[in-house]
Amino acid sequence: MTRSHLCLLCLLLFLLNFAASEDEATTMYYLKSRLNLIPAGVNWSNPDHCKWDNVQCDANNRVTRIQLNEKGIQGWLYRDLGKLSELVVLEFFSNKISGSIPDLSGLKHLQILNLHDNLFSSSISLNLFSGMNSLQEVYLDNNPFHFWGFPVAITEATSLKILSLVNCSLAGTIPDLFSSETLPSLVSLKLSHNYLRGGLPESLGRSSLQQLYLDGQQPYLDGSISVLQNMTSLVEIDLQGNAFSGQIPDLSGLQSLRLFNVKENHFTGVVPPSLTGLKSLTVVNLTNNYFQGLMPLFDKSVSVDAITNTNSFCLDTPGAPCDPRVDALISIAESFGYPLKLAKSWRGNDPCNSWLGITCSGSNVTVVNLERQELTGTISPSFAKLTSLETIFLSNNSLTGSIPTELTTLPKLRTLDVSCVSQQYQRWCAKVQGKCDCGDYW
Ligand SMILES: *[C@@H]1O[C@H](CO)[C@@H](O)[C@H](O)[C@H]1NC(C)=O
Ligand SMILES: *[C@@H]1O[C@H](CO)[C@@H](O)[C@H](O)[C@H]1NC(C)=O
Ligand SMILES: *[C@@H]1O[C@H](CO)[C@@H](O)[C@H](O)[C@H]1NC(C)=O
Ligand SMILES: *[C@@H]1O[C@H](CO)[C@@H](O)[C@H](O)[C@H]1NC(C)=O
Ligand SMILES: *[C@@H]1O[C@H](CO)[C@@H](O)[C@H](O)[C@H]1NC(C)=O
Ligand SMILES: *[C@@H]1O[C@H](CO)[C@@H](O)[C@H](O)[C@H]1NC(C)=O
Repeated sequence: MTRSHLCLLCLLLFLLNFAASEDEATTMYYLKSRLNLIPAGVNWSNPDHCKWDNVQCDANNRVTRIQLNEKGIQGWLYRDLGKLSELVVLEFFSNKISGSIPDLSGLKHLQILNLHDNLFSSSISLNLFSGMNSLQEVYLDNNPFHFWGFPVAITEATSLKILSLVNCSLAGTIPDLFSSETLPSLVSLKLSHNYLRGGLPESLGRSSLQQLYLDGQQPYLDGSISVLQNMTSLVEIDLQGNAFSGQIPDLSGLQSLRLFNVKENHFTGVVPPSLTGLKSLTVVNLTNNYFQGLMPLFDKSVSVDAITNTNSFCLDTPGAPCDPRVDALISIAESFGYPLKLAKSWRGNDPCNSWLGITCSGSNVTVVNLERQELTGTISPSFAKLTSLETIFLSNNSLTGSIPTELTTLPKLRTLDVSCVSQQYQRWCAKVQGKCDCGDYW
């Protein structure tokens, strides 16, 4: 290329840039005309928009930052704001801006989008995140949007680190795309106070999230939280006010976990030693679930929320062991996957105090009758620990596995009815003390 060619190229580039920055002047003028800036004390009167308050341009006079925060600004955002193609930071948080969020798709340099605490009410563009592969932080919290679902184009925002969409009418299920293969940098996902439903997607287990906030969904998120077991980077988990159920999984791999809030859910089972033993914990909230067994004892440095309320701990003293009959029955419930029905009824430290399906003679448990309780799982060998047992009814459930040989050691057992227990409603015979007992179903 000759020198003159080079100069021509320079001139061309200069002209292109000049045209682009002229365009941007127009865009900025339109942006200004729709915002009520003067009462907010924002001075956008200079003829050169690059000299306006809270606006920054690059060497080519292209707008790179607009940061007008906490000024009480009213108005709405110019819909072609997405033409400011060199934008890196766009912030209007804590104002009173209404209308819709402009289509920002294709802003490939945008790193920070922060519009939380405004009055944006329209639907969010389905294009949000599309082509925005530099985007690192997004905050849209506390806006009265129309209901919207997760934009699938979020997979294009491959640099995303922080996604905060708290209290902003997000509806539907959590999409299965949060693995670190898809969003390798994502460390913070805050989706509290929305309308999400369904379960935790499996891909979360392959994410490197440090913060996961899903509290307060209407009506609720539900299902198991076993996927948390694999989320070893987690520092803060907040699942308060949902309908998650089942047991707390083994969280011993979460060596940085500080906050564990599962308040107001439907968890059952014992609080596992893998949680109480975590050295990193500072706050644990377990109130209003159906936890069973001994009240967990955490290290003194951990703040634990008052955990008695609806929980079914045997005693109110952390670490105090349960009555052996309670331990045996909880172990029996464990083999059935800690069903909610049992957790709700089997409360306190005395199984003879009207526990579902339990009959006693004095303080001896003589009958366990759990017919037709929609139980799944297996028959626990722990039945053998209730040595006063005379009768066990487990018919009409969906149990699998075999009858533990330990049961033959029960000295007083007369009836073991496990008919119709398998998923296929096969008729089983129980061999007890050498006798074959097949109930009425043989
Ligand atoms: C606004 O800025 C312009 C120049 O940028 C300045 O001349 C003017 O005095 C400022 N107005 C106020 C009210 O500060
Ligand atoms: C949720 O957002 C609405 C506006 O959409 C706001 O009025 C309300 O105060 C927010 N709630 C919280 C707890 O911040
Ligand atoms: C945890 O990860 C392992 C290995 O990737 C996988 O086999 C297992 O299913 C995961 N567990 C859960 C509960 O997601
Ligand atoms: C969780 O428990 C801690 C410690 O008791 C308490 O200070 C905090 O308020 C609780 N959080 C909620 C949301 O209840
Ligand atoms: C309870 O069981 C024990 C030991 O099997 C026995 O000695 C006792 O008499 C039983 N009590 C009642 C009320 O059946
Ligand atoms: C078992 O369940 C079936 C189907 O629900 C019912 O027809 C049958 O009467 C039940 N048998 C007993 C003994 O409860």
